[in-house]
Amino acid sequence: MIEYRPLKIALLGAGSVGSQVARLILENRDELAARVGAELQLAGVLVRDKRAARATNIPADLITTEPDALILGADIVIEVMGGIEPARTLILQALNSGSDVITANKALLATHGSELFDVAEQVGAQLYFEAAVAGAIPIIRPLRESLAGDKIKRIMGIVNGSTNYILDRMDTTGISLEQAMAEATKLGYLEADPSLDVEGYDAAQKAAILASLAFHTEVPLEKVYREGITKITSEQMAAAKRDGYVIKLLAICESIAADSEHSDEGISVRVYPAMIPLEHPLASVRGAFNAVFVEAEAAGSLMFYGAGAGGVQTASAVMGDLVSAAKRHVAGGPGLADSVHADLEVLPISRIQTRYQITLEVTDQPGVLAQVANIFAHHNVSIETVEQSAKMIEAETTAWLEIGTHQASDKALAAVVAELESSAAVEQITSVIRVEGV
Ligand code: NAP
Ligand code: HSE
Repeated sequence: MIEYRPLKIALLGAGSVGSQVARLILENRDELAARVGAELQLAGVLVRDKRAARATNIPADLITTEPDALILGADIVIEVMGGIEPARTLILQALNSGSDVITANKALLATHGSELFDVAEQVGAQLYFEAAVAGAIPIIRPLRESLAGDKIKRIMGIVNGSTNYILDRMDTTGISLEQAMAEATKLGYLEADPSLDVEGYDAAQKAAILASLAFHTEVPLEKVYREGITKITSEQMAAAKRDGYVIKLLAICESIAADSEHSDEGISVRVYPAMIPLEHPLASVRGAFNAVFVEAEAAGSLMFYGAGAGGVQTASAVMGDLVSAAKRHVAGGPGLADSVHADLEVLPISRIQTRYQITLEVTDQPGVLAQVANIFAHHNVSIETVEQSAKMIEAETTAWLEIGTHQASDKALAAVVAELESSAAVEQITSVIRVEGV
């Protein structure tokens, strides 16, 4: 039975996601009211251009370009405009006027999240953001609630769909990065500024959000180490495949303990392309799909998989937040508060332990292999595998060495690469890539 007063919902944005949110609120009115215990009344929809065509049928009298009146009267404000401003100012205005806020805006949360959460806490409002990471996949709520009594050790995610599509096409068809990017552009997968995807910025924003929840620590975006996929070649893809690996753009958030060489402990938050074994669950994530692999102390390994983007898919995550926020209004109570009590240090990339796969072109002469091996030994990096192939080029035999290392610190591995670069024994380094998930 519905006894509570109707709740007024202000929707900021009616693009790919917002138009679907509006449709779902309007079409599922009765069912939502039954689930929440109050009617969810769409009070208005903020856009830039009132006359622009919309993907779904939104009554014209709901469309507005005036945010102030819409926000002032709302119980719950949904921000699906994107960008930093005016989204930030409007969210602050909504929180300060007592509304709960739902946002899908990872760029805003990764750069101004602490400001927004502080204001929400001060005024006793709630900020929900399930749609900001990995689209339709429920990952924020599991980290905030389901795993709140466990201890997260590591998160390894494919959280950018367009780069996963590009790498998957390179892997399965052998096409170049440029060709795969052209396909992704044609399919509308890439952001208006493609560097957000291919240079790893989008994944870094999502990694910062995931790490802050998993480790109860504020993670500034500038502390997230980031490499994109623009240097990945079809030759690297083919070599990885031959060796039983696939290359994926990974967002990794992990807890780092002190060890014999380092007294500091903290977390590492990083984004880079890496080889993962074909048998790792993330290797089977194809096309533009996303997945987040979580390792927790008690729960063990968990994998969350699904559509990381798309208007209607992302709207599903927004609707989940809307029902939670509305139920809180009806039932009362303080709702969720995220804590950054742990305040762990975000450690630099040099501090992590990883493995490298390095491919070198060397002159095929006696002693060259020993010189190369010495460089690894000099930095205390242990070699796990070596494969050599040779070919005659202009009367000289050139050899390619593909060297896989055991786990070592990124600092030592980077020092090996630097010394190899300046070594007379090495003609050129053709590939350096990290190996994860082994
Ligand atoms: P979009 O298609 O570009 O839509 C943006 C909407 O906001 C449009 O309706 C636009 O109005 C309105 N808007 C933008 N700036 C405005 C302003 N200054 N004043 C008034 N209205 C303004 O964006 P989207 O793809 O739906 O994405 C929305 C948010 O969801 C972003 O934060 C994005 O990162 C996030 N997200 C999207 C996806 C996805 O698959 N699309 C997935 C996950 C998260 P007009 O239509 O009049 O221009
Ligand atoms: N550009 C993003 C992606 C959209 O490719 O995953 C979803 O955040």
